[in-house]
Amino acid sequence: MTGTILTASLDTILESERISDEHNGGVVNVASARVQRRREDTTALTLRAVGKQYGERVVLDDLNLAIERGSFVSIVGRSGCGKSTLLRLIAGLETPTSGTLVNENGAGGALDTRIMYQEARLLPWKTVLQNVMLGLGTSARDEARTVLDEVGLLARENDWPARLSGGQRQRVALARALVHRPQLLLLDEPLGALDALTRIEMHALIERLWETYRFTALIVTHDVQEAIALGDRILMLDSGRVTIDQEVRLDRPRLRGASQFAELEDWVLSQVLKRDRAANPSLQFLTPASSRAA
Ligand SMILES: Nc1ncnc2c1ncn2[C@@H]1O[C@H](COP(=O)(O)OP(=O)(O)OP(=O)(O)O)[C@@H](O)[C@H]1O
Ligand SMILES: [Mg+2]
Repeated sequence: MTGTILTASLDTILESERISDEHNGGVVNVASARVQRRREDTTALTLRAVGKQYGERVVLDDLNLAIERGSFVSIVGRSGCGKSTLLRLIAGLETPTSGTLVNENGAGGALDTRIMYQEARLLPWKTVLQNVMLGLGTSARDEARTVLDEVGLLARENDWPARLSGGQRQRVALARALVHRPQLLLLDEPLGALDALTRIEMHALIERLWETYRFTALIVTHDVQEAIALGDRILMLDSGRVTIDQEVRLDRPRLRGASQFAELEDWVLSQVLKRDRAANPSLQFLTPASSRAA
């Protein structure tokens, strides 16, 4: 099957299911159609048997996933397992080799999507405010200043990016994404180059903005603490598939020192390391705390 990205309306989805029912000689079940409609209303993204290959290399294989609207999902997995590829597919920057990806905003269109990377990718010859206003007219000036205020950088609006710290640059990048009021924010290791304390500050900022605007967020990270601090759900990718899909039921803001946080962190870490050790036997010395205590 050829890979497709659909921005299908709900009625189209229901219609196609009705047709397949008829093919099966079945009768349309109105109650189940209503349940299906409610489910689709709350689902921002659906991946059905999605695969991605580069030449002979299979990166994603038969991936099935439904992401709830307004949720925060963390994606972990060892280097090269396909995390960035998955984000690029969801962003529509690439197309799947097989399967279907439904990206739906609840009003018949595609989700307005923004993506943030490890580097802020600011234009050095434009000021902080001009960077946030990129692609927008001068009428967006007040809105851009409001968002800069929200990320704590209004006082630096006339500075050049070169005068900012790495964390401040990422806050500008966040403001540049949020000024568009996205429905879906994709974060590809956005804090990977920052020091631990700045990262924790950024977690609080991202969480506060997410709680305010309730966009759907997907963050790819190598930092298991970050995954737990932010995610309602943690997905682990391995060999092209989702091998762990773990709900996180800790109250927000999450306390890193809390025992439940530490237990979950240790467990997720042990799963990631298990895969790493299997892929690279020289890493046998890496053992999570729980196994050491046993
Ligand atoms: N455009 C491309 N052409 C060919 N191969 C690619 C391309 N993009 C990615 N790949 C391959 O797909 C695999 C997954 O890459 P991807 O960047 O998604 O990994 P990742 O999980 O994000 O890794 P990391 O944690 O190191 O960022 C890698 O083997 C990579 O070499
Ligand atoms: Mg990557």
